[in-house]
Amino acid sequence: MKNQRLIIEGGNALSGEIKVQGAKNSSLPIIAASLMCKGETVLKNCPCLTDTYASCRILTHLGCECRFDGNTLTVKADGLDKNEIPDELMREMRSSIIYMGALLGRCGRCSLSFPGGCELGPRPIDMHLNAMKKMGAKVNDEYGTIECVSEHGLKGRKITLKYPSVGTTENIILAAAKAKGETTIINAAREPEIVDLAAFINKCGGKIKGAGNSTVVIEGVSELYGCTHYIMPDRIAAATYISAVAATNGEINIHGIDASLCDSFMCVFEQMGCNIYVYDGCIYVNAKKPLKSVGKIITLPHPGFPTDAQAIIMSALCKAKGVSIFEETIFESRYRHVDSLVKMGADIKVIGKAAIINGVKKLYGAKVAATDLRGGAAMVVAGLGAEGITEIKDIEHIDRGYENIEKVITSLGGKITRT
Ligand code: UD1
Repeated sequence: MKNQRLIIEGGNALSGEIKVQGAKNSSLPIIAASLMCKGETVLKNCPCLTDTYASCRILTHLGCECRFDGNTLTVKADGLDKNEIPDELMREMRSSIIYMGALLGRCGRCSLSFPGGCELGPRPIDMHLNAMKKMGAKVNDEYGTIECVSEHGLKGRKITLKYPSVGTTENIILAAAKAKGETTIINAAREPEIVDLAAFINKCGGKIKGAGNSTVVIEGVSELYGCTHYIMPDRIAAATYISAVAATNGEINIHGIDASLCDSFMCVFEQMGCNIYVYDGCIYVNAKKPLKSVGKIITLPHPGFPTDAQAIIMSALCKAKGVSIFEETIFESRYRHVDSLVKMGADIKVIGKAAIINGVKKLYGAKVAATDLRGGAAMVVAGLGAEGITEIKDIEHIDRGYENIEKVITSLGGKITRT
């Protein structure tokens, strides 16, 4: 909700045990995929977020039935009777462009408004549109509306991506799941959330091989049937709570998460001097020693260091002794949280794609704003590790991706309230 704020009283070491929420970035494409299925789809461990609620509003608008019961989302898509998504629904959620592949797969046509840019900079969709054209869709993207038609169904093709875009890979998988023949994606994104999407579609009767690798092969099937699927855990939420523990020199036991999902960033916490133990679907992190700087971190497509963890881990590094450097290679404007961290006492300089963090002894509470989802989470991490009170406004960005963030932090002994 607009105008809400998070008030944090910093300086308390977080300590305790949590189960991490279901992954936002896996639930969104899976909810889109559910509109292609006959019968009922039951998604367990589905996070209650403004983005998953926005997905449900899109499905309901299209004629599907959606029901959230705790973290179980049930979708019945048999009643789908529309293929256009109005501008106001498209704008509620940036990743709504994945409905292009799902609607083309189900209806052979769709009309969506252009998603436009966002807080992270321009968000081109050229690769999405080129892929749909290559599969035989006629695409008209004039006047801010994207009209796609494939009267006789999409055709499987070999599609080489110029960059391993997550959303484009997902859109092609969705479109190809019910296309005629075989689609091969070369230079596909390899994020674990893509593996979860493919696992879901395969459970529904799809035929996808190679998800998680650079080459993904999708053999189109004539029907998909709803199934029950457990959404994978959210690795970026895990990174956020570990960062909060690091920033407060605390300890945490995270359960319900396969540690290999976190390989791309756990090495950074190790370098910071955290002790990490992995056992039976749990990750234990002890950050009681003073933090050390980590040298240079470059954000890269998976399995490289995730851009989504950059702002969050930067907050923890503000108090790490020595110099740490980030190089952001994925998005143009992903340092918008830096000004607020500097306001809290951090020593950070941004030069082009690089952010140079010179560790300071203390951060101090301040009035700051969430500039975007992960930038907002970075403010929470910094506030918990700072002396005094931090007040964060514009927290609707945070609610897009974190389920009950203040409840989780309170359960770890942090002092945080929503006003
Ligand atoms: C997804 C994630 C987001 C994450 C990002 C990168 C979801 C819902 N969101 O976003 O949290 O930060 O991956 O890991 O899963 N690009 C183009 N043309 C295109 C498409 C993308 O130039 O047609 C560029 C983008 O501008 C960006 C880069 O490719 O610079 C990566 O984007 P992409 O991997 O597509 O990210 P998203 O799927 O939007």
